[in-house]
Amino acid sequence: MVAEARRLRVDVLTLFPEVFGPFLGSSILGIAREKGILEVHCHDIRAWSRDKHRRVDDRPYGGGPGMVLRPEPVVEATEAVQAMEAEPGELILLTPQGERYTQAIARELAARKRLVMICGHYEGVDERVRLLLKPREISVGDYVLTGGEPAAVAIVDSVTRLLPGVLGDPESGAADSFQSGLLQGPQYTRPAEYRGLGVPEVLKGGDHQAVAAWRAAEARRRTAERRPDLGARTGGSPGDRATSGGEEGASPPETR
Ligand code: ADE
Repeated sequence: MVAEARRLRVDVLTLFPEVFGPFLGSSILGIAREKGILEVHCHDIRAWSRDKHRRVDDRPYGGGPGMVLRPEPVVEATEAVQAMEAEPGELILLTPQGERYTQAIARELAARKRLVMICGHYEGVDERVRLLLKPREISVGDYVLTGGEPAAVAIVDSVTRLLPGVLGDPESGAADSFQSGLLQGPQYTRPAEYRGLGVPEVLKGGDHQAVAAWRAAEARRRTAERRPDLGARTGGSPGDRATSGGEEGASPPETR
């Protein structure tokens, strides 16, 4: 059954709207936008600056290094952007202090009609932004980025591939890794031999059941070897689950 296509609107509040262009136009994101399934609007927080020099940051109270994003431009930009539509959307603040982003959160966000993302910058965002707007705070990993922009791109990308109608083959999204709790096993394409390395016979034999069983076993093996925590996280041992999904996400047919 082909799932019905929906539309997701994403608004990104950022100091660097220009960095999103190339990502939004390429690959799956570009296709999703062409199909009208994804709509992304980037807003420059500086447009809400009250300063004649368009400054939006200031030194931290109490001293310390770096600059902090002032609350007024961020809060006012967010309120104005949310008010552009009847649906205010789920408000997300990208920050290393947020909950760690996972495929489960991607699935949750893919069910929304609208996402509004605030990209932090400098040493951080004035605490009153959190207190007033009460955003969901998300981190894409335990490391510090210079700003929330790469995190926003990662989230938009991972959510978009879950939207019905985006991937040419609806099976691709369902088979993605982490969807099923396992990493992908090895993948091969032509040539059948390269620098003395061949392709496992089972993949060339045309027996679909045997191929599926081989892939499931390889996925379990690779997951147990590299990410034993995934089995624990999904409530069983990695050996309990099987998938043909990709470690970096199964490739859509368009790029295979
Ligand atoms: N901004 C800076 N580092 C970040 C991270 N790890 N995740 C999300 N936003 C961030």
